[in-house]
Amino acid sequence: MSLLGDKIIDWYKDNGRNLPWRNTKNPYKIWISEIILQQTRVAQGYDYYCRFIERFPDFQTLAEADEDEVMKYWQGLGYYSRARNLHEAARSIAEKGTFPDTYPEVRNLKGVGDYTAAAICSFAYDMPCAVVDGNVYRVISRWMGVEEPIDTGAGKKVFAALADELLDKEQPALYNQAIMDFGALQCVPSSPSCMLCPLSDSCVALQKGLVEELPRKVHKTKVSNRYFHYFYVRAGAYTYIYKRGIGDIWRNLYEFPLIETETELDEQGVLQLSQFATLFGNCEVDNIKLVAKNVKHVLSHRVIYADCYEIEIPETACVGGAYQRVLIDDLHKFPVSRLTSRFFSLILEQNI
Ligand code: ADE
Repeated sequence: MSLLGDKIIDWYKDNGRNLPWRNTKNPYKIWISEIILQQTRVAQGYDYYCRFIERFPDFQTLAEADEDEVMKYWQGLGYYSRARNLHEAARSIAEKGTFPDTYPEVRNLKGVGDYTAAAICSFAYDMPCAVVDGNVYRVISRWMGVEEPIDTGAGKKVFAALADELLDKEQPALYNQAIMDFGALQCVPSSPSCMLCPLSDSCVALQKGLVEELPRKVHKTKVSNRYFHYFYVRAGAYTYIYKRGIGDIWRNLYEFPLIETETELDEQGVLQLSQFATLFGNCEVDNIKLVAKNVKHVLSHRVIYADCYEIEIPETACVGGAYQRVLIDDLHKFPVSRLTSRFFSLILEQNI
């Protein structure tokens, strides 16, 4: 066992978090937790995990569920392809009849990469597979003073090899949980309390003054702006929605009719758009009201600025386009993005 392993396992025994997916060897439950935690913090993912497992306690139940319902349980978590992949993978597991129990088969599940496969195999089956996630990159790069960037092919290989060497092969589940918690709670990205750290004597980054510099990355994430104009149509008790398609954010989530523009646009500008005429040209618009203006919604690679207009039309009128006409009272049944959920709240509040 390595010095690092000894120290962080000791630290973990005193400081580790007691989390529901750590008290089980059930590979299905571990899989669900790891998919939720891929891009979500424990504090946010905890309740989602509990609700998800309560409703879908095993892969058979998940496989049999309707996709809209699965998406509904994921609503607000972001990175929705995770839920679609989980559902698809559950169906392929159900066809075979048992949860896969070899690394290659686990790695082959839709949505499972090297990290998640190592987590499932070590936690559920005690296989000696080292997990390498953001926390592990940080702990190893700092403790060993590795300046190789973590976001290149070559860098990833270097870290995978180091992680394998450092892994405690006698107790891989404990070691992996320990290093992840150590990264999440002690060796945090900015301003870690190095003076309280059990590895401070042997940490190369601390000795060289590189703690805030490591781990290194070569690529900076480029962020672009998008401008969305939504239309909450009121046609008596009805409104219009549609399910987003492939090739963009929020696939398979529902939202109000939308016009996207390249630049910011005020109400007069929106009313003059040809798409506005396509949507509402055939109905007599009784009233237009701006419900929300320039709401900023930040995603990993983009910032969305969204308006929401309330448009009243006669109950018998039809908007142009392939939209679903649904009861306003049924809106809560559809899986939606966090942004659309914010609009739902605003609209429902003002209807009271
Ligand atoms: N992040 C990813 N997997 C985790 C786990 N099993 N426990 C805590 N945080 C995690």
